Parts: sequence; structure tokens; C-alpha cells
Amino acid sequence: MPEAPMNHLAIIMDGNGRYAKSLGHPRLWGHRKGAEAFERTIRLCAKYGVRVLTVYAFSTENWKRPEEEVSGLFSLMVEYCTKKLPTMVEAGIRIKFLGERTRLPQKVQDAVKLCEESTAAGDKVLVQIALNYGGRDDIVRAARAAMQDGIAPEELTEEKLSSYLDTAGVPDPDLILRTGGEARLSNFLLWQAAYSEMLVMPVYWPEFDEPHFLEAMEYFQKRDRRFGGLTK
Ligand code: IPE
Ligand code: IPE
Ligand code: MG
Repeated sequence: MPEAPMNHLAIIMDGNGRYAKSLGHPRLWGHRKGAEAFERTIRLCAKYGVRVLTVYAFSTENWKRPEEEVSGLFSLMVEYCTKKLPTMVEAGIRIKFLGERTRLPQKVQDAVKLCEESTAAGDKVLVQIALNYGGRDDIVRAARAAMQDGIAPEELTEEKLSSYLDTAGVPDPDLILRTGGEARLSNFLLWQAAYSEMLVMPVYWPEFDEPHFLEAMEYFQKRDRRFGGLTK
């Protein structure tokens, strides 16, 4: 079987809380370990030639969590963005954020902007971080923007609408991987997932490392992607 390249890997990084609990730590400790797994995964993408990595960091529904956890997550993101920025730039990583930004605290919006601007020239791996992201919200914001641009109903094609999504210009994910054992999308990349392969792994996100990454790559290589047609 010819090896289809995995250009775009998308990950629902789930299981930080359960991982922490299983070891008797607070949930935020789990999120911190999750951030380390994220960093490892970026390096693995660079090593194995995955050009785009999209990760689900905070959903439009995650605001329902206790204020302490939400603000802890944001502080962790700001800290991480600032501290790891030079390493990312050096490694040729380009960072882009997906999601609605105006609801984010100002310090997070500033960090988002700084990260995107400082890494704009990166050409090795594009890392898309979905933050205050919801697939439905993405589609609604795209439709609104198209209407605001005066796009006529008959002009609105799939390509046109795609060009208004947060992921405009980026190919759809080849594989959507969810750690933590649950088989649902939780509002992640609903439009873009149309023909993505899917894999659920029982491992908690903070435990994710090279063997799991390679397992996912191998799983992807074995898929017969028909896109609605017939096997060649
Ligand atoms: C995923 O881990 C990270 C975020 C949603 C921010 P969880 O925090 O959902 O961990 P579990 O699912 O409760 O174990
Ligand atoms: C999905 O995980 C969101 C992120 C990983 C950021 P959740 O833990 O929020 O999803 P549900 O609530 O189990 O569906
Ligand atoms: Mg979860």
C-alpha cells in the first residue's frame, strides 16, 4: 500500500483532569503536564514531517468549568507562550490561534498576538491552537463575515465559506486523534472533519509520547481513504 503522507494531524487533548486525579493531584497540575505533552508533540511533528498540527486547548463550552480552573488554564497559556516563544521561533514553528478572541482576557489576547507575530516566519510546522473555539461558532462567524462582505446567496459555495473559517487556506485534518478514551468531537472542527480519519486512544493526554504518536501514524497509514469513491 502506498504511504499517504500525514500532512495535518489534529488532536483533542483530553484527559488532563483524570490523569491528575489518578495520581492524587489537582486538575491544574494535570493541565501543566498536558502543556508538556503538547510541547513534545510539536517536536514529534517536526521530526516525522507532519506539516500542520491543530490542537484543541479550550472549547466554547469550557467556560462552564469553575472560574479557578478557567483562569488557571489561561495563566498557564500566557506563561507558556511567553516562556517557550524563543524555542519555537528557533525551531521554525509558526503558531496560529483558532477561535473567537474578544471573550478572552486581555492578557491572553496580548499573548496570542505576540505568539502569532513572533512566529509568523516559521516554515517547518504550523501549529494551530484552538482557544475559545467551537466548530459551530466557527461556522456562524464565517457566515456572518460572508454576509458582511455582501456575498450573494448564489456565490456562497463550500470553497467560499471555507475561506471565511478560522482555518482558511489550511488543508483539512488527515487524522483527528482524541486521547482520554472518549469517542466524540465535542464541537471540534465540525466542518473540517468531513473526511478526516479518526482515532481514539485510551491514554490520558499528559502521558502521550513518541510510541503513541507512532501508533497513530501507523493507524493512519493503514486507512483506505475513499472520499466517497471506490478503492483504486
Ligand atoms: C482536556 O483535559 C483539557 C481541557 C479541556 C482544557 P480535561 O480537563 O477535559 O481532562 P478530563 O477530561 O477532565 O480528564
Ligand atoms: C474537549 O474536551 C475540549 C478540549 C480538549 C479542549 P472536554 O473535556 O471539554 O469535552 P467533553 O466535555 O468531555 O465532551
Ligand atoms: Mg475532558
